[in-house]
Amino acid sequence: VPAGKRRHALTMARRPAPIDIWGDPSVGRALSRALDVSQTGEDALHRYTHGFHVYPARMHPLTARRALGLLGLGPGALVLDPFCGSGTVLVEAMLAGARAVGVDAGPIAKLVAHAKTRLVSASARRELVTAARRLAALVVAEGKAARRAGYEAPGPRAFPDVDPVKREERLRGWFDPHVRRELEALAATIAREKDPGLRAILEAILSSILIKMSRRSSDTSGEPVARRLARGMAARLFAERAELLAAGLGALADDVPPGTPAAEVRAGDARALEKAGIIPGSVAGVVSSPPYAGTYDYVDHHALRMWFLGLPQAGLDDAEIGARRHFHGPAAAVATALVGWERAFLKTLGEISRALAPGGRAALLVGDSLAGMGLASRAVFIDDVIGRLAPRADLALVAAASQARVALGTWEQRAFADRPKREHLVLLERPRE
Ligand SMILES: C[S@@+](CC[C@H](N)C(=O)[O-])C[C@H]1O[C@@H](n2cnc3c(N)ncnc32)[C@H](O)[C@@H]1O
Repeated sequence: VPAGKRRHALTMARRPAPIDIWGDPSVGRALSRALDVSQTGEDALHRYTHGFHVYPARMHPLTARRALGLLGLGPGALVLDPFCGSGTVLVEAMLAGARAVGVDAGPIAKLVAHAKTRLVSASARRELVTAARRLAALVVAEGKAARRAGYEAPGPRAFPDVDPVKREERLRGWFDPHVRRELEALAATIAREKDPGLRAILEAILSSILIKMSRRSSDTSGEPVARRLARGMAARLFAERAELLAAGLGALADDVPPGTPAAEVRAGDARALEKAGIIPGSVAGVVSSPPYAGTYDYVDHHALRMWFLGLPQAGLDDAEIGARRHFHGPAAAVATALVGWERAFLKTLGEISRALAPGGRAALLVGDSLAGMGLASRAVFIDDVIGRLAPRADLALVAAASQARVALGTWEQRAFADRPKREHLVLLERPRE
């Protein structure tokens, strides 16, 4: 089953499934309210900047908001998401008046989470929209000029960290030629923008339209699709996305409690948080969704975006935990990969524990998963894993809520035949000394 088909199952049940609670009953009930977002409409998914950029295994904003509510945060408390992805938790933490810090190993995560959490004035938001419209108009004009005789195309962009020959190889065939020309023109024009803050936001906007403008069906599925994309469409969509982001940033700026800073987003490895600038004992609370074992592969999901935008992927390639690509091969290889993944998970829990102040809490959204493929595949029951590993990381298990998720495809159904596949929201606490 292509991972794309599973995407929604990770955060939303198709119809409400019963929830089991473990541990402290009142915390368990609150966790279950945070986990069960099946009855909520689309609105929360798109409010603020949440709907700006698709992201595989994005957390539901209401889960993030309700989980943050369980951390007992005081005003200005430091909240960390060590797997921040597209920044859902960071946006919600800002709305709760916290100082939000996100860490992620992937460059697309950093780009998107940063853009979604800027606190910008109304005039700067207008400037963003004006700049995007100007860029789009330039690109359309350029496209018209390109169709005239004697036109000389501008030279290719230079990327400090990316081999242009490899880039060309990776991108070949993934875009209609006229769309590719438009996207490259947008990227080249963005690269000339002098203000680095504005440039970073414009790049995130470009990233937000790339897959829609490509022949790849989605981030999680590499299936080629044919799309009929008119000339000028990429430029038009780019300008529209800028408007959407500016509106979302406006709503965020309006609703964030006074004095709340913009989130900080750092490139880093959740297994080495101090290296990512997180001071041990400084964090009041953590909300995060660590990668599931063998479900996603962010190097693959974001390959087209990273190659197009000239972003280095080596860091993610080395650091990514739980990636599907680690679980290829026979049963013995899957077993070895699981040992490595558990070691990485334990390291992460240890780092979360070290980052937390005594008494600090961590709410983790985790899912059972199928590791490996075909006959070699097997179920991973993540609640068992956390139960075993948390005490070794000096974290006490306060409560958990678990809700069944649909097992998709033959192998998953087989692996979860005797015990349902579930998603869990787990609350851990660093004991007071
Ligand atoms: C389930 S996603 C998080 C999604 C996020 N909650 C959101 O709403 O967008 C998991 C993230 O973990 C990141 N990741 C994987 N291994 C990592 C590591 N060792 N350190 C930091 N981030 C990592 C991936 O790049 C991915 O963005």
